Amino acid sequence: MLNRIKDIAEKLAPRLIEIRRHIHAHPELSGQEYQTAAYVAGVLSSCGLHAQEAVGKTGVVGELKGQGIDERLLAIRTDMDALPIAERTSLDYASRLPGIMHACGHDVHTTVGLGTAMVLSQLGETLPGNVRFLFQPAEEIAQGAGWMVADGVMDNVSAIMSVHVFPSIPAGSVGIRYGALTAAADDLEIIITGESGHGARPHEAVDAIWIAAQAIASLQQAISRTQNPLRPVVLTIGKIEGGRAPNVIADHVRLLGTVRSLHPETYASLPQWIEQIVCNICKTYGAGCEVNYRRGVPSVQNDSALTQLVETAAKEAWGSDRVQILLEPSLGAEDFSMYLEHAPGTMFRLGVGYPDRKNYPLHHPQFEVDESAIIIGVVTLAHAVCKYWHHR
Ligand code: NI
Repeated sequence: MLNRIKDIAEKLAPRLIEIRRHIHAHPELSGQEYQTAAYVAGVLSSCGLHAQEAVGKTGVVGELKGQGIDERLLAIRTDMDALPIAERTSLDYASRLPGIMHACGHDVHTTVGLGTAMVLSQLGETLPGNVRFLFQPAEEIAQGAGWMVADGVMDNVSAIMSVHVFPSIPAGSVGIRYGALTAAADDLEIIITGESGHGARPHEAVDAIWIAAQAIASLQQAISRTQNPLRPVVLTIGKIEGGRAPNVIADHVRLLGTVRSLHPETYASLPQWIEQIVCNICKTYGAGCEVNYRRGVPSVQNDSALTQLVETAAKEAWGSDRVQILLEPSLGAEDFSMYLEHAPGTMFRLGVGYPDRKNYPLHHPQFEVDESAIIIGVVTLAHAVCKYWHHR
């Protein structure tokens, strides 16, 4: 079966490059993936899948029918959106849209999803069960997975697999991560209310800027002294607003930040932990305090049996030396975790680095991928899908 998958994928390779370059040249922002969705649905229909558009707003779902011997439904998820970044590569298929770029490889993911659908559709009658392909919008704003789930895409799904490009390892390699792959990412707003006064008479005022400074410093110190150092927490205040003039004590400061964590218990405890630290400081110095903690996306926790399945599939396809076990998670976030609340799943990393030149990171205006990775992604996923039916 693996040899057949490889044969089909190799024949499809030029077409897949063409698809990827078309998507790369026509990027669309989160929630506006209309052209991409229509294009994806067209490709799915042309290889005999039932394709439905406008699922999860601008998402697409493709259903591939197998023999129906195995009742389990397997989902494959790829994302389609681009970023508000002005591309600075010199590729002849660079973005044709000013200020929008596929700088996170979602063009590659969409192509790998389509390629996997194309390969498996040619094996269709030999597949024991059905496969549902999810082409998700709006991953970059961490909304699309939730939209797709709300439209019922996880109904009856037994397991889900996904892939993300990874420029830190070379094209031709696959990265496998057990356990936490990405962090939970939550949004934080803190409002500190003091009392205005003359800059020369601090004792008659409540200085919201000084209290905000205390709060920020205390939060960072409290991470080091009260959080388990083996369970990372990153708290970044990325925006601070307050004050009116150099000689007027500020009565109002607003802080905006992001909070990242990996461990489920830490994740659960963070809102109260932050509120307690900040509000105690405010109270001590007579200021008012409001902490608004908004949950973003949970941590992606890869299921160990499914991760092992993908690892074995990749090793069989490419050899052990091209499969890297990733020892560290990322504190970035990924809304793939929203699907994992409904079924176990795993996401692997697809190496896209060039061996012989500088590789720019994800979200960089000069980010490029070595396209030889596409077929690696397709064969790995297609083979993992086939192996899934033989694994209970
Ligand atoms: Ni991404």
